Amino acid sequence: MPRCMLICLLGIKGCALVDTTKDMQQDFAVVTSQPVSEDASVVDIRTMTLSDAEFAGQLTVEAFRSKFVWATSESKIPNVINGMVEEHKNSQNEYHRMFIASYEGRRAGVLTLKYHNSRDPASTTNSFTGIGCCGTIRLAALGIMTNETVPRGSCYVDHICVSSEFRGKGIGKLLLEKADNEALAHGCNKIYLFVASENRAKHLYERFGYHTTDSNDCDCGLAYCIAGKRSFNRMEKSLS
Ligand SMILES: CC(C)(COP(=O)(O)OP(=O)(O)OC[C@H]1O[C@@H](n2cnc3c(N)ncnc32)[C@H](O)[C@@H]1OP(=O)(O)O)[C@@H](O)C(=O)NCCC(=O)NCCS
Repeated sequence: MPRCMLICLLGIKGCALVDTTKDMQQDFAVVTSQPVSEDASVVDIRTMTLSDAEFAGQLTVEAFRSKFVWATSESKIPNVINGMVEEHKNSQNEYHRMFIASYEGRRAGVLTLKYHNSRDPASTTNSFTGIGCCGTIRLAALGIMTNETVPRGSCYVDHICVSSEFRGKGIGKLLLEKADNEALAHGCNKIYLFVASENRAKHLYERFGYHTTDSNDCDCGLAYCIAGKRSFNRMEKSLS
């Protein structure tokens, strides 16, 4: 079964747009990355902190909203967001591999990486309440399908997303550069991700050196049933 599909989907993570980002104040006390391109003058990428949990949880749901609606329903999205925020609050031991991008001082994007020995945060079902029996089961299934086992020496882009109001400004590319640098620092020689075949983000990954190593057309219907998508690509890049 292709876990591909959920790559970015969730696993306990995700992304989104969110108007609420406008109201969120950015704490610049910690800057963990050096400028990586000409855009870096307005973009800051740093390790996640507890104060980012609300933003990251909301963005995670909003960026992949259609999949969460598929798994639960439109009316349950506020509950899903609450659950995702709780998940992010409870993931402090994993913040070292979670990053926040800010654009001109406002939170704009999230990147989560996973390594061979990374632990997954607590079960998604612990934090998600008020989504009904079916929603709980379907979210759990989504979590299982997105729970990638990362090979030694590889880095997995668990999810990457930028708030809709900041898309197309190069933040995604900077997050991918951050991912490369982090992976190299962890001794990885490969980095990979999964993306829905019809997602235009594929173009960004191709431009950035990723190539497709596997395509899964989920004819069995299970993937479609759980994620609402039939086809996913595994994309990989060699690091040197
Ligand atoms: C994919 C994403 C992280 C890129 O961030 P970004 O800051 O807009 O990226 P950049 O400005 O560096 O590059 C622009 C490229 O991003 C991709 N992109 C832009 N908007 C997008 C959107 N709404 N959905 C998917 N990909 C998008 C495109 O490939 C675009 O290049 P193109 O205009 O030539 O098609 C961001 O658009 C996003 O969060 N999308 C929704 C969530 C998602 O699909 N995440 C990837 C799952 S694998």
